[in-house]
Amino acid sequence: MRMYDIIKNKRDGIELSTKEINFFIENYTSGNIPDYQAAALLMAIYCNKMNKRETLDLTKAMINSGDTVDLSHIKGIKVDKHSTGGVGDKTTIALGPMVASCGIPFVKMSGRGLGHTGGTLDKLESIKDFKVELSSKDFFEAANNINIAICSQTANITPADKKLYSLRDVTATVENISLIAGSIMSKKLAIGSDAIVLDVKVGSGAFMKDLDSALTLAKEMVDLGTGFGRETVAIVTNMDEPLGYAVGNALEVKEAIETLKGNGPKDFYELCLSLGTKLLLLAKRCENESEARELLIDTVDSGRAYKKLLEFVENQGGDISYIENTKLLPKANYIVEVKSDTDGFIKSMNAEKVGECSLILGAGRETKESKIDLSSGIVLNVKVDDEVKKGDVLAYVHGNNIEKVNEVKDYLKDIIFIGEKNSKEKKLIYAEVTKNGTRLF
Ligand code: URA
Repeated sequence: MRMYDIIKNKRDGIELSTKEINFFIENYTSGNIPDYQAAALLMAIYCNKMNKRETLDLTKAMINSGDTVDLSHIKGIKVDKHSTGGVGDKTTIALGPMVASCGIPFVKMSGRGLGHTGGTLDKLESIKDFKVELSSKDFFEAANNINIAICSQTANITPADKKLYSLRDVTATVENISLIAGSIMSKKLAIGSDAIVLDVKVGSGAFMKDLDSALTLAKEMVDLGTGFGRETVAIVTNMDEPLGYAVGNALEVKEAIETLKGNGPKDFYELCLSLGTKLLLLAKRCENESEARELLIDTVDSGRAYKKLLEFVENQGGDISYIENTKLLPKANYIVEVKSDTDGFIKSMNAEKVGECSLILGAGRETKESKIDLSSGIVLNVKVDDEVKKGDVLAYVHGNNIEKVNEVKDYLKDIIFIGEKNSKEKKLIYAEVTKNGTRLF
């Protein structure tokens, strides 16, 4: 078999066989196929797409490229949630303690952020001494004793995806449904949770910019999960504006803590409740949606979820005084206001560009090696549809380099559009996709 023929076939719209896909993944992972040939094949896949069988074969081959993690040492039904990537998405930090405080093991092996979306591990490292590296023994003990563990991947999980994702990132081949579905689901399926809840983002800050593509991606991932015998549910959610108000590592941790104290942004809290409801149902903890939702609300109102966060942070070596007093979290030297020049309503704000602003400030990673500034970022003071008056504060820019802070201040004014009131009410959740079909809201 020759890589040249595989590329040529896909270029000409011919379906790839299981053998060809396995040959490509095995030999690319072991270094026998050079990046330029892999890049050519990725572009051919991007242009000519893959069918369901090819996507399934790709996912299987990527799982088989590395280790798998057996979670059977953990008692109970293990649930995992995954977001396809968004701006200001600090969901895991609030949702994990909410679900764990209901007695459900919430275990995650998370990644770092790359590009305009941030990673959970980076955010958690804003808490002094928080350890993201856990031995298997500590990981399983945490899961069994306190129902929550979030750590970095130590095992060699899906090395094929690691190589391919970096290559896709620099060859404009990320936004392909089969490649995204295969990449995300291979990582999820290599780790043996029993049930998976997917948050598929749609909008300016997401990979999928329109609802149809997001629904197709959601369906593809649900089919893959179900095909591998895992209960999988996806909800398709709005990423046309950042989630909540805070974008940036320590700023997002603070917002997640406030949410667990009952003072969180409405959209963010609602998303945690919606995802949490699905998780509790899949974990068979509740009989129906309203029971699950009430239980989750009670974890916040009673303070149980906040206490679980303290327990989780302490268990992973973190200094809980940073949670009890968020003023201790990393703080930027400059905080500059962005003010409105006009009266009107917030019509839109481009979430991807807000994410780019946080990159300019150093809150995100341009390359895998970049060091990030945990204190910098943006705290919005408005959401889409809010009414503003001239002189009102639209956002606060937090940063340590005053030139960059001023650059972002000007840029944000171009990103936040003010005008007439929008005629259509915005939605947070567009659809739910299960193995039985799609429910639109
Ligand atoms: N996240 C992933 O892990 N892979 C993709 O392809 C896109 C988002």
